[in-house]
Amino acid sequence: MDLRHLKPSREQDAPIYLQLYRRYREAIAAGKLRPGDRVPSVRSLASELNLARGTVEMAYQMLASEGYFVARGAAGTVVSPRLESLAEPGHAKVPLPPVHASPRPQALAGAALPFQLGLPALDAFPRKTWARLAGRKLRTLETAAMAYPDPAGYDPLRRAIATYLGISRGIACSHEQVFVTAGYRGALELVRHTLLQAGDLGWYEDPGYILARWFLERAGMRLQPVPVDEEGLNVSAGQRLAAHARFVVVTPTHQSPMGVALSLPRRLELLEWAGRRQAWIIEDDYDSEFRYHGRPLPALKSLDRDGRVLYTGTFSKVLFPGLRLAYLVVPASQAGKFSDVVNHLPGPGSILPQAMVADFMEQGYFARHLRKMRTLYVARRGYLVDALAQTMGERLHVQPQAGGIHVLAHLNARQSDKTLAAAAQAKGLPVQALSDWRLRKSSQGGLLMGFANFATAEEAVASVRRLKAALAKN
Ligand SMILES: Cc1ncc(COP(=O)(O)O)c(C=O)c1O
Repeated sequence: MDLRHLKPSREQDAPIYLQLYRRYREAIAAGKLRPGDRVPSVRSLASELNLARGTVEMAYQMLASEGYFVARGAAGTVVSPRLESLAEPGHAKVPLPPVHASPRPQALAGAALPFQLGLPALDAFPRKTWARLAGRKLRTLETAAMAYPDPAGYDPLRRAIATYLGISRGIACSHEQVFVTAGYRGALELVRHTLLQAGDLGWYEDPGYILARWFLERAGMRLQPVPVDEEGLNVSAGQRLAAHARFVVVTPTHQSPMGVALSLPRRLELLEWAGRRQAWIIEDDYDSEFRYHGRPLPALKSLDRDGRVLYTGTFSKVLFPGLRLAYLVVPASQAGKFSDVVNHLPGPGSILPQAMVADFMEQGYFARHLRKMRTLYVARRGYLVDALAQTMGERLHVQPQAGGIHVLAHLNARQSDKTLAAAAQAKGLPVQALSDWRLRKSSQGGLLMGFANFATAEEAVASVRRLKAALAKN
């Protein structure tokens, strides 16, 4: 296709990126661009049409998020081949964007089912205290807090987070480096908009957190799988595979999903690489609060002398995920840039939940809740591990883990973990297959199971029996 047909006009009312987006849609609808056709890179189109790269990137992102474009890593971006199958005979000219195709893991959505991953103990949340704080907050909310919220987050919450991180995670930061976000993906989105470009290459733990992986891929990032072993992310392998990567996403305290900690030599090696290459380290510290043996490890961010670490934490595990609140701590040198970008993004939403979390933290309820949950999770983990050993000992063995709110059970026989997980899910038991969290194939299968909502040993035993029955024919 002649690229000049895409050229937006400066006279029109619509912003340039929107015009470009529409031109592409029209070209696809008219059959000038066919499913599978490669489109020019952001850089070359920007230079061809004399536009800013950010403008082209924005149009491409819209097209990718609506399913018109698919990023194919080094092979570039193409018009989605799925549009072909959606075109009916005689209607081939109006392609509809495909419904988002990624299977939403049952284990990561909806109500608390047995073994559900990612959920804290919802029955143990101190609802009465929460309701009291909510009532008081609603009565006393200062007028400033009823106006438009700061997209960087509610100031008292930013301060409470900075104080908490200083004490519990060894992170010295000012509240101006803290950005409250709509969940972890909100934090990734902010990093993506501030420091990364579509097509940037990043290391991704293999296996690694499946939802963030999908999010990054859809945001146009190219991910280099880097193996994880008993010392966590293999940093030397990362350097061998893609020393020039722009970023890395890592779960150093409690690798997701393997549960190992990144060793100190590897932490130092990673920081050294990032400093030398000017790469960004995105530290996902999603459940460090729950460690049951040994001393809690300080965050990687606490060792960050060169200002390369972007630290993220979430309230999803320590409070509850329906809050949709997480946070990002950026290096002091980047705080201005982030403050600027955040003004153009939706931010973390309503002030009220942020104000309640701030009160919960400042008034000591948070620390008390965490202490209570640590003890509770030791017991609940025991319920599941014992039930698995008694009932399924011959099929599974649980890998020892120092923390977290899920267990990883390895398969004793050479069996497909995907088949087993599918059989369990068909019976309403949302265990997950380790293979689904991998980027590269591996013979080591396993089942991931949440334990936080087994309130008693009997409940765990009953659910494990159901699991055994569900897997019986496989
Ligand atoms: C590895 C990992 N990182 C981050 C998160 C937090 O995500 P969010 O804040 O969107 O709930 C989770 C939640 O399950 C997780 O498992």
